[in-house]
Amino acid sequence: MLKFSSVLTLFVLFFVSANALSIDKVFPGNATDVEVINSLINDDDTICKSMVQAQGYACEEHKVTTKDGYILSVQRIPAGRSGKTANKPPVLLQHGIFVDAAPWLLNSPEESLGFILADIGFDVWLANTRGTKYSSGHTSLSPNDSAYWEWSWDELVQYDLSALVQYVNYATGQKLHYVGHSLGTLIALASFSQQDELINKLRSAALLSPIAYLNRIQSILIKAAAQLHLAEELDSLGYYEFPPGWDILGPILEKICNETGTNCSSIMTALTGPNCCVNTSKASVLLKHEPQPTATKNIIHLSQMIRTGTIAMYDYGSGDENKKHYGNSNPPAYDMRNIPTELPLFLGYGGRDMLADVDDVKALLNDLKDHDEGELVQVYSEEYAHADFVLGVNASRVVYDPMISFFNLH
Ligand SMILES: *[C@@H]1O[C@H](CO)[C@@H](O)[C@H](O)[C@H]1NC(C)=O
Ligand SMILES: *[C@@H]1O[C@H](CO)[C@@H](O)[C@H](O)[C@H]1NC(C)=O
Ligand SMILES: *[C@@H]1O[C@H](CO)[C@@H](O)[C@H](O)[C@H]1NC(C)=O
Ligand SMILES: *[C@@H]1O[C@H](CO)[C@@H](O)[C@H](O)[C@H]1NC(C)=O
Ligand SMILES: *[C@@H]1O[C@H](CO)[C@@H](O)[C@H](O)[C@H]1NC(C)=O
Ligand SMILES: *[C@@H]1O[C@H](CO)[C@@H](O)[C@H](O)[C@H]1NC(C)=O
Repeated sequence: MLKFSSVLTLFVLFFVSANALSIDKVFPGNATDVEVINSLINDDDTICKSMVQAQGYACEEHKVTTKDGYILSVQRIPAGRSGKTANKPPVLLQHGIFVDAAPWLLNSPEESLGFILADIGFDVWLANTRGTKYSSGHTSLSPNDSAYWEWSWDELVQYDLSALVQYVNYATGQKLHYVGHSLGTLIALASFSQQDELINKLRSAALLSPIAYLNRIQSILIKAAAQLHLAEELDSLGYYEFPPGWDILGPILEKICNETGTNCSSIMTALTGPNCCVNTSKASVLLKHEPQPTATKNIIHLSQMIRTGTIAMYDYGSGDENKKHYGNSNPPAYDMRNIPTELPLFLGYGGRDMLADVDDVKALLNDLKDHDEGELVQVYSEEYAHADFVLGVNASRVVYDPMISFFNLH
């Protein structure tokens, strides 16, 4: 029996995404224009109050407006638990799809990346992607408007990511390290492949459960959903926000589970792989925050990648439509071989990850084979699956320690 709660859990660590803002609007002058909105929020329902200050850390709430009008919430942890102000560079943490920044803070301070980084002196910035609970604002649209959901990860690359990086760079006057998980890695890789100027504001990028090629994805459930054009179907029925209600999605998923012979009693496992090291007693806490919605169009875009094995912009489905948007009947590709070879990259991937599976990661690594020696560091964990990279109780030893050593070299 497929339970709602287990499906919710399942959605938690699917992918990762990003955020952005309008430089002209948001950065008219200098860092004194950066808006710290702590004092304006009386509400206890913020990530700062419920997850960061609750653990005894200082926290600032920031708002960043993207060029296309999305108002993103960003949290900053400017000091460690001891109160000592950060003396290391800023680090921007970008979560994946169906979650917000909460999972970076969910385990104990000794186990959670957000707190670990703050305690060793990094200036920690947490992104929350457009459409998620705390980033649902827009200058003119509401999430009730279909136009609000008219985006895929192309827009996260074009608007959100560059804006966020500029914001943190502007606010701190320093170049930053970037940490992405899942979709948060795809948007970074896509941006790097375009040799976007944001690269000049980065010291390095750590990509956990890297998503680039998706055609060898191991999750039968997700593969089947892509082959069945599930997201396209929902979109044509007017469900522009994903997931739609459980009354809609539940029976469809149950049918796919049945027909593919997938044991969906642990839907998280069915979707992300057998996570070795996620503390199951955290699930109820997690469910307070997740799943977070995304655009159905974003799911369609990912489904296209699963079906085609390419990394390209959103395919409008006909040569004419694509011509209108891109001046070409095919959507432009993001060529991973164009990533600057001197950009310091850290890749963490796992043998049991059913989304960022080993074969797809190897295809990415093949594209990066000319990367400068020493500027591409890999950490592979045989037993890790997708969620372990954020929620694993021993991720500190398995992934974060080598990642932090890598940061300290850059
Ligand atoms: C920085 O911002 C402050 C306050 O808005 C302003 O007084 C100052 O002139 C600005 N400096 C620069 C270099 O723009
Ligand atoms: C969106 O729709 C819901 C339910 O129909 C309603 O309660 C809410 O006030 C609407 N929000 C906005 C911003 O219009
Ligand atoms: C899935 O299979 C179970 C048991 O075989 C059955 O009870 C249920 O009705 C099936 N659900 C769907 C949607 O086909
Ligand atoms: C499905 O998985 C659950 C828990 O992982 C297990 O208890 C159950 O026996 C499995 N069902 C089948 C049919 O394998
Ligand atoms: C798992 O979470 C529970 C509840 O928060 C906590 O008491 C326990 O110490 C955690 N276990 C590990 C290994 O972190
Ligand atoms: C992490 O935990 C897993 C599962 O308990 C274990 O197999 C692995 O050896 C641990 N790794 C480290 C470095 O502690």
